[in-house]
Amino acid sequence: MQYRKLGKTNFQVSEVSLGAWQIGGSWGDVSDKDAERVVHAAIESGINFIDTADVYGDGRSERFIAKVLSETKEQVFVATKAGRRLQPHTVDGYNRANLTAFVERSLKNLRREVLDLVQLHCPPTGVYYEPEVFAVLDELKQAGKILYYGVSVEKVEEALKAIEYPGLATVQIIFNIFRQRPKDLFFPLAQQRDVGILVRLPLSSGLLSGKITRHTAFAADDHRNYNRHGEQFDRGETFSGVDFDVALDAVEEIRRVLPDGISMANFALRWILDHEAVSCVIPGARNEGQVVQNVAASALPPLTAEQMAALAKLYDTKIRSLVHQRW
Ligand SMILES: NC(=O)c1ccc[n+]([C@@H]2O[C@H](COP(=O)([O-])OP(=O)(O)OC[C@H]3O[C@@H](n4cnc5c(N)ncnc54)[C@H](OP(=O)(O)O)[C@@H]3O)[C@@H](O)[C@H]2O)c1
Repeated sequence: MQYRKLGKTNFQVSEVSLGAWQIGGSWGDVSDKDAERVVHAAIESGINFIDTADVYGDGRSERFIAKVLSETKEQVFVATKAGRRLQPHTVDGYNRANLTAFVERSLKNLRREVLDLVQLHCPPTGVYYEPEVFAVLDELKQAGKILYYGVSVEKVEEALKAIEYPGLATVQIIFNIFRQRPKDLFFPLAQQRDVGILVRLPLSSGLLSGKITRHTAFAADDHRNYNRHGEQFDRGETFSGVDFDVALDAVEEIRRVLPDGISMANFALRWILDHEAVSCVIPGARNEGQVVQNVAASALPPLTAEQMAALAKLYDTKIRSLVHQRW
């Protein structure tokens, strides 16, 4: 496993880390046993950074992480998120009282005295124009409740605005073969400001593993069933917002440039890691096997110039018009 500096935190994080949404909910059934094994396998594989949120399974994900970490001596940096418990989810809700209550709840779930990193959880765009919200985060830092804060964004413009706040340590954003826009303007600016970049949906909700077909059945409580058109939350969070049929055709094109002996999931993760501004990828996993396989991407050589060019062409011809100006 290779490690990279996480922006202003100075923490060295595993470049392949873990997304823990799956062990909370919204991905069909993931048993308690599998959820625990996912976290244990991650730690055993050298992963030292886990991304979760207070709303994943209404705290189930945070509580599993706390339980497993209580059984190991390894130092693991846990990033959680706050904001999505708000109903309605409005700019006004991001105030001192609510943010403090969310942080206190996560401290309890995670069994910590201080949270390593709290990310605003894809807040409405208006939040980025309210310096008071970021002042509250500074206060929580000064009060010793959180070590660092960051944001998880839907849009590149939100990321560009967020990095204007000097206290911001990290930005979490969707970046994968189907969502290439962040690298153009945002990555160099984030690097200049020493802001860490956490890459979510690295496998485009599993599409970029190459295993999903038109016949794949998703459970009723899997968002790939109920949020394909943004019915419950931002459409971009499911399959990166790319039309399912178009994406499946694009996956077949990727298969044509895939080198022998490398899984498509590893190839897709390696493509992201070849961008040096990225601090780590946080692929979600529903079982131990996926964790172990994803970690292998760290040991692969970089993609060749020809492979990079083929993936750039695929994006430009098949995907760009569907996503580039939307997020
Ligand atoms: N708003 C936010 O802040 C936000 C939103 C979304 C995600 N996130 C974070 O980002 C993390 C990653 O995003 P994501 O989980 O949505 O998408 P993702 O990592 O692109 O996709 C995860 C899915 O890919 C499949 N997969 C993973 N490893 C595999 C492997 N080696 N081989 C085959 N299939 C594999 C699994 O699908 P199956 O379930 O079909 O096996 C898994 O559920 C989340 O866990 C969460 O921590 C944050």
